[in-house]
Amino acid sequence: MTSNIKCIGVLTSGGDAPGMNAAIRSVTRAAIFDGIRVKGIYRGYKGLITGEISEFKTNSVSNIIQQGGTILKTARCAEFLTPEGRKVAYETMQREEIDALVVIGGDGSLTGANIFANEFDVPIVGLPGTIDNDLYGTDVTIGYDTALNTIMQSVDKIRDTATSHERLFFIEVMGRNCGYLALNSAIASGAEAAIIPEISIEKDQLSDLIEQGFRKSKNSSLVLVTESEITGGALKLAERVKTEYPQYDVRVSILGHLQRGGSPSAQDRILASRMGVAAIRALLEDQRNVMIGIHENEIVYIPFKRAIKKEREISDELLEVLRISSI
Ligand code: F6P
Repeated sequence: MTSNIKCIGVLTSGGDAPGMNAAIRSVTRAAIFDGIRVKGIYRGYKGLITGEISEFKTNSVSNIIQQGGTILKTARCAEFLTPEGRKVAYETMQREEIDALVVIGGDGSLTGANIFANEFDVPIVGLPGTIDNDLYGTDVTIGYDTALNTIMQSVDKIRDTATSHERLFFIEVMGRNCGYLALNSAIASGAEAAIIPEISIEKDQLSDLIEQGFRKSKNSSLVLVTESEITGGALKLAERVKTEYPQYDVRVSILGHLQRGGSPSAQDRILASRMGVAAIRALLEDQRNVMIGIHENEIVYIPFKRAIKKEREISDELLEVLRISSI
């Protein structure tokens, strides 16, 4: 390999996700394994602007594979959205002799990486770190599996009280405008339905559900809802039920940030470890402006432009599984 890269910077940006630490560890160890220096950049792009950076050795990332959150901290940095902010970030890279970046984050973070890489010709490789599973070109993102398990365990608990009181529950989960967390956690927890943005655009899922008599012989119902203006969110749906279908005893549970915490699942740790090694390989092979993805259990490289294009569609097969298994 003939790369000129002698030192890389690694940062986590946007919403934290379980497995980000496993990714930082893997990136650090893979780089050092290949004779490349590593610098940890704190608080996402903000650290590139303020110069909060420290040299990482192999033991800087010891005992973190099992920890949720990110030891590098994270932020959504408004300054990096401006050309002036990005110029300061580039100057910091030059001063710190950082030749390339590994950015671990979601949609917004990779959008920022794409702009920065094009503006200053900086080699950047991205790792998809987000519980939302909303990036195109990868079957899953780092953190998604853990969040799914956390939601499933919470829904199992809500089911106990829903059944005892014979209530209809709307359980709101994260995902922004992507319904994967709601849909797959509905399947995994045996919920009756999922109300997700991808479908809400086309039809009124709430009235469809109720008019099709979705409770049938059941005395309680659990409906997973993606937080989103498109679905209206759990509170708005519950308000509608109270006025339009007053026969239901309805309650709401918004799971919130607990979905982002906790020790990463084995699947997320392995995914993050594989992607971290692949990121360094990609940089050494002079790949740039790509996100590492996983497709059919193989590592793939997705140009940033495609990864962030919001082309990702919801799976019809999963929708059907939920429809059939909840009768
Ligand atoms: O992108 C990850 C995510 O957890 C989304 O699901 C959610 O909409 C958002 O971040 C919440 O962001 P914050 O932590 O800034 O409230």
